[in-house]
Amino acid sequence: MKRKVYHPKPGVSVTGMAYIDLWNQQWADKKLCSSGSVYKSEEWEVLTSFELLKKQRVLEAGCGYGRWLKALYDREIRVHGIDFAINGLRIVKEAIPEIPVVQGDIRHLPYKDDCFDLILSWGVMEHFENTNEIDAALEKAFGCLSESGLLVITVPYMSLNRLLNPLVVSRRLASRVNWIRKVFGKGEKVFFQYEFGVGYFRKKLISNKFCIKHEQFFWLEMGLRDDFRFLYPLVKYPVFLFSRIRGLDRLIRWVFAPFMLFVCEKAAQGNIIGE
Ligand SMILES: C[S@@+](CC[C@H](N)C(=O)[O-])C[C@H]1O[C@@H](n2cnc3c(N)ncnc32)[C@H](O)[C@@H]1O
Repeated sequence: MKRKVYHPKPGVSVTGMAYIDLWNQQWADKKLCSSGSVYKSEEWEVLTSFELLKKQRVLEAGCGYGRWLKALYDREIRVHGIDFAINGLRIVKEAIPEIPVVQGDIRHLPYKDDCFDLILSWGVMEHFENTNEIDAALEKAFGCLSESGLLVITVPYMSLNRLLNPLVVSRRLASRVNWIRKVFGKGEKVFFQYEFGVGYFRKKLISNKFCIKHEQFFWLEMGLRDDFRFLYPLVKYPVFLFSRIRGLDRLIRWVFAPFMLFVCEKAAQGNIIGE
């Protein structure tokens, strides 16, 4: 299962702004500063707990303005970056010219086969409106990975809460109707990204010959803030209390978390080995 999400900001129109410009605009006034937020993130925890940082040749596919490239480079990892938005790459080049970055499309990765041990893709593939392009990007990633190389990928998760919570559902419906968007000053509706059911994305990975080694739902707090808005102060205490109870954490994340992460190995057969 998957569901379209339209761009939440005003001033973005189907005709007025190409997709790349949207990202160029996003990165225009960014600065590459301390990597503290990356080192504190749940994604970093996964990379360290699986000892993935021992992998030496690393590519970030869709590297944005390079906050992950910098964090990895500072830990002496040989990292490469690719993104199609030039504004982000300029920031990387100015800050750390030693990091090789390429302007390009991850659906056509311009690298040789078997040249990376780890490919990271944080929040990129959900932005392909034609979901066949996810297969194209996964196929390319598969080719560029060395034998037993790993792909770590995050995408938005269509949780039970996102399906059923009336606050979320009503906002979603409103974001699909152009005249309601106009009333709230949000401009014409433009596809922004998908949210995926976990089964849908597992199938995508497995059908592209990846073997899923680990999966988890994450960014619980951000999900609660976004989805419950003014009710967040009321909801957060019971949710965090329940999530501390042994065994309930995964259930709570399955219901409320907004993103999911997969660690997948390049393998001949797709198969889920464990949580
Ligand atoms: C949500 S941002 C994530 C940036 C970065 N990974 C991070 O976590 O800071 C998505 C990035 O993917 C890039 N992107 C989207 N589609 C792409 C494509 N087909 N090829 C290359 N880059 C792409 C965008 O330009 C943007 O920089």
